[in-house]
Amino acid sequence: MSNNFILAIDEGTTSARAIIYNQDLEIVGIGQHEFPQHYPQPGYVEHNPHEIWNAQMLAIKEAIEKAKIEAKQITGIGVTNQRETTILWDVKSGKPIYNAIVWQDRRTSNITDWLKANYFRMIKDKTGLVPDPYFSGSKIKWMLDNVPNAREKAERGEIKFGTIDTYLIWKLTNGKVHVTDYSNASRTMLFNINKLEWDREILELLKIPESVLPDVKPSSQIYGYSEILGSSIPISGDAGDQQAALFGQIAYEVGEVKSTYGTGSFILMNIGNNPIFSENILTTIAWGIEDKKVTYALEGSVFITGAAVQWFRDGLRAIDVSDEIEPLAASTPDTGGVYFVPAFVGLGAPYWDPYARGLIIGITRGTTKAHIARAILESIAYQTRDVIEVMEKDSGIKINVLKVDGGAAKDNLLMQFQADILGIKVVRPRIMETTSMGVAMLAGLAVDYWNSLEELKQKWKIDKEFIPSMSEREREKRYKAWKEAVKRSMGWEK
Ligand code: G3P
Repeated sequence: MSNNFILAIDEGTTSARAIIYNQDLEIVGIGQHEFPQHYPQPGYVEHNPHEIWNAQMLAIKEAIEKAKIEAKQITGIGVTNQRETTILWDVKSGKPIYNAIVWQDRRTSNITDWLKANYFRMIKDKTGLVPDPYFSGSKIKWMLDNVPNAREKAERGEIKFGTIDTYLIWKLTNGKVHVTDYSNASRTMLFNINKLEWDREILELLKIPESVLPDVKPSSQIYGYSEILGSSIPISGDAGDQQAALFGQIAYEVGEVKSTYGTGSFILMNIGNNPIFSENILTTIAWGIEDKKVTYALEGSVFITGAAVQWFRDGLRAIDVSDEIEPLAASTPDTGGVYFVPAFVGLGAPYWDPYARGLIIGITRGTTKAHIARAILESIAYQTRDVIEVMEKDSGIKINVLKVDGGAAKDNLLMQFQADILGIKVVRPRIMETTSMGVAMLAGLAVDYWNSLEELKQKWKIDKEFIPSMSEREREKRYKAWKEAVKRSMGWEK
């Protein structure tokens, strides 16, 4: 086996991670650093780009140390990231002009309400997305409108925009390279996913000068060289974290689906080289290995899943550590009729209601903490079904297997319930680091560290399969009640 390695940088919503892989796709070192979340007002979520960068550097150093390797043994770097989160920076000083506005931030609802009312069809047909504060476009507009002098500077070409991948690559190359990849570009609501170019009409609508935007490249190629690790290393992979996870689940074929359970859940299905448009879930670019040729995906983004467990722990203080929820939920055979809808920040796919708010319904005198714990876990599985149902219907493709990863995929109780409520097999891989593994694969392919998708497929192993055991009648009864609970949570904040 070679003495060289691939470094995957995985910059997520709450922590920056770095994972080093060897040629057998084994992890040889991991570094992870959390960074602060800033909530200046209700509905606002921000990150400080310096804090992200510092956390990322610490994570990289830690991973290299743990792997007991030297930076010069790294053959390629892959960058994967929390998507949509938006940074604008001053080209001359290199300094961000404002904090990063995070994907969860809802401050631009008024902008996207206006887009929804007047340009829904045009935006959907061009970008595959539903106008929503989630995406970068309205966040860029907000910064240009609200940060003093930002628009004038942008018009003079002095401001650059980046999602986190772009910002990190810019920093890693000492400001030499301003790029993103197809998968990240497709999350801005500014990128035409049919023509594979920035869309002038939408840019004009939002008054965003094209000069702020990065060049859009395939997800697997050498973009530039990292100068900051004491050795010049090719940066050769770039993909949004959810698309990277689909790649890391080796979901190369049409109809293959994965769900990543993190703060929220992201369910993506490979739909091949032609986009399929759906009213209620997103069409997005999964990856592009070659120039001007991409693989598309349908995506359902569910905003709050794992975060509901965190809320149970930190908000309600019902448990001390997140792992306690599984035994607590398992201590009762069902929720006793309780349903929990975690619409803390509105509802994403397939409902797209920024005004929905969380609810717990069906509480009786007999309801206990265990019932609520179970209802929280079950809400994760129900929300996944909401998306999978729409995906099947709108694509006409029958889904037979769901591949899972992310923190909550470790929870056997939840994964069994997921299989039960979907009525299909749920498959968990041995290495659940699929996001970083996906971008490591993309980075490795570009520098001939690995030679083919087939080679990668051979190295991918299953840990456990969950087979549905709930009766059809029971499954449908529970799902119907869930849908009713969701209906009642909607429009609350309006
Ligand atoms: O679209 C947002 C998503 O990319 C965030 O992922 O893993 O940081 O919660 P994560």
